[in-house]
Amino acid sequence: MTEQPSSSDDAATAAVSASPMEASGLVLPSSQVPGPCRGALLAWQRQALAFFRNPVAHMMELRRRYGDTVRLVQGGNRPLLFRPSVPGGATFFAFGSESARAILTQTDVFETRRPPGPKSRAYDRLTTNMFFINGERHKQQRRLFMPAFHRDSLKAYYGDMVHFTHRMLEAWQPGQRIDLDHEMHRVTLNISSRALYGIDATARENSLAQQMSEMIFTLFSPASMVPINLPGTPYRRLVRQMERIVGQLEREIAEKESAGASGDDVLSMMIRARQQDPSSLSDDEMIGQAFTMFFAGHDTASKALTWTLFLLSQHPEVMAALSTELQRELSGQPPTYQQIYGLPVLDRVIKESLRVLTPAVFFAREATRDTTLGGYEIPAGSEVIYSPYMIHIDEAYFDRPKTFDPDRWLSIKPGKYEYLPFGVGSRTCIGSSFGGMQLRLMVAMIVQRWRLEGVADSRIDVKTNVVIGPKDGLPMIVRPLDGRFEESRKPLRGFIREMVDLGP
Ligand code: HEM
Repeated sequence: MTEQPSSSDDAATAAVSASPMEASGLVLPSSQVPGPCRGALLAWQRQALAFFRNPVAHMMELRRRYGDTVRLVQGGNRPLLFRPSVPGGATFFAFGSESARAILTQTDVFETRRPPGPKSRAYDRLTTNMFFINGERHKQQRRLFMPAFHRDSLKAYYGDMVHFTHRMLEAWQPGQRIDLDHEMHRVTLNISSRALYGIDATARENSLAQQMSEMIFTLFSPASMVPINLPGTPYRRLVRQMERIVGQLEREIAEKESAGASGDDVLSMMIRARQQDPSSLSDDEMIGQAFTMFFAGHDTASKALTWTLFLLSQHPEVMAALSTELQRELSGQPPTYQQIYGLPVLDRVIKESLRVLTPAVFFAREATRDTTLGGYEIPAGSEVIYSPYMIHIDEAYFDRPKTFDPDRWLSIKPGKYEYLPFGVGSRTCIGSSFGGMQLRLMVAMIVQRWRLEGVADSRIDVKTNVVIGPKDGLPMIVRPLDGRFEESRKPLRGFIREMVDLGP
């Protein structure tokens, strides 16, 4: 299993294997894709609302009732997540690993699209980024950013990760109740600000990263979808937030340019690339890409940390094995850069956490032409949703899929379309090496400094934009390192119990 960005992009060349139905020559029309009934009152609206309220619960229910290929609403419907470029499509869920393979390998058939958003110049600029470009320009932009995630760059980020994690750990007090989600959000915000923009977010009030984080929150609140641009509306707030962020990014870029842009942060690297070749990044791409690295990297890493520490607190036997390994190999010190990938128990814990509570839950593509998926015709203009999460919890690929069992990795070797926390192919996560290092390093530091204990009877529900996190925080008590891991596990309530086997 690798978290290094794969250069061998099988997108263009792979022969996409057909579903059993397709292989037998039987391809059914898209009208026969099963799904909730269109006849019901406001069927599309109700389904769309249920999806946005809790995408995980909704996808689980759809698969349970209809199988691996599902239509959001039977009969006609309109796309959920995109402004489609071809009229006449619908929304389909493709839950199986073979469908994910078809989507991720045929990059000319399944393309990404911008989500609908405010009609504003700031929005257009912020969304001129890696996620929403296709074809040659996408390949060129990935090549441009690769150096930011090479070994030498990662070594530079390593020091910042140790520094900010150490500072957080020293501020915690024995017996203190913390919101783990909030703590991980804050520390990763500081790390992202430093690594991506060369900014010390802790030194500035209302930092750029903080503003971006707030804007992303507004962007994904349902209220902001109502396009009423009047004072006081969430929509107006969103437009203003976007304008402020674009303005501040422009100022940061100008300041860095005039200071020589010699830093090891990603923004300085972008400026240098453009100075060498002005066609490599347009003005809008400078803004959009600077934004997207933050958008893509911050929340994912923060939630992955939160969930990993949560799972460890609820599984004392795993925590004990990890603690033994870290004590033996590190004696209380952070792992050196060279040690990070040489800790087998830690490695299995991270792999399993990224499987059971994979942070990036779903992604969508638009079919650029008529095609097939899972034995059904899919018309051009349709939006197709694939979900790493739904694959990771499928019994067809993993035994007892909702059980957190890092030792399963001693005997399994899933295919790359069966375990895909960082995606696969030409759009695989460009920051996976950064994210993988951050997770391993920080988990090793945190569990060697404190024992985190759950709070009995807390309710843990989830909220999902694309990334899944605890809805109302995740309370923990900070305990000294006393080895009493059994006491960390507490009975919990809420939707988390639908996602992970937490025992009685
Ligand atoms: C644990 C942490 C992370 C997880 C689980 C994660 C997950 C993913 C996944 C699943 C995709 C594929 C999306 C698709 O199929 O459309 C993706 C793409 C991406 N990720 Fe990450 N990510 C993480 C950390 C990061 C970091 C730290 C950065 C940057 C600093 C980053 C930047 C990106 C970018 C720019 C893309 C878009 C790539 C493209 O479309 O070519 N990610 N990520």
